[in-house]
Amino acid sequence: MSSYDPFAQDYDALTADMTADVDWYLELAREAGEPIVELAVGTGRVAAAIACETGKRVIGIDSSPAMLAVARERMAGLPVELHEGDMRDFTVEEPVDLVISPASALFSLPTWHDRRLLFERVAAALRPGGRFAWNAFVFSAKVAVQFDGKRIERAGEVWEDTRYVPADSRIEITRGRGETTLGTVPIWWLTKSEWEGLIDVAGLEAEALYGGFNREPFDDDSLEFVWVARKP
Ligand SMILES: C[S@@+](CC[C@H](N)C(=O)[O-])C[C@H]1O[C@@H](n2cnc3c(N)ncnc32)[C@H](O)[C@@H]1O
Repeated sequence: MSSYDPFAQDYDALTADMTADVDWYLELAREAGEPIVELAVGTGRVAAAIACETGKRVIGIDSSPAMLAVARERMAGLPVELHEGDMRDFTVEEPVDLVISPASALFSLPTWHDRRLLFERVAAALRPGGRFAWNAFVFSAKVAVQFDGKRIERAGEVWEDTRYVPADSRIEITRGRGETTLGTVPIWWLTKSEWEGLIDVAGLEAEALYGGFNREPFDDDSLEFVWVARKP
């Protein structure tokens, strides 16, 4: 069972305010040939928009059967192939132009080994000149102080408790409704130099790092990594 399964029915409501990234990935998709691969596609929030707006085929991979079940309903009639599996094992039949992973999904990988493997798989899946684009939040000690150990109310009467474990760069997000705890999702944050290390070991080149989806320059105050890496 995936740690995301218990939240699948609530995921779209919980991420309803997350829209800025969709246009960003759409723009990249318009410049790419098909198929486009989305790693950790979840409920298909971004993949559906790409398939719908561009008509291009999208291959989505996710390890949560429940997230994929929601995605399947949303994808009816769209050129999207959904595969249940671990993104660390993904391969493609033919090299592709674009691989994406929105919404801090790469923070689901717990170890350096997992992340290196993933980046190497992406590099192997890309055509020369092909792009890997992903975004992830920037860990902020100020935000951590605000949220650590506190319960906040989210959409659909879902509450959320967040616990920060700096020794492991880990955040544990526990969600529930009323008296019932639904489950806990652990994620592991990365710094800029760690992302650069992964790009480097995979033999990719950083094409761009923005601090937001409107191509804001990345600086010391940025709260989002918006990366584009390219296969030479
Ligand atoms: C934050 S959600 C992002 C979903 C989607 N990309 C979006 O933009 O809304 C993270 C997703 O990563 C998936 N996931 C976590 N670890 C994974 C793994 N090792 N392989 C494939 N999917 C994974 C979860 O099931 C979940 O659907």
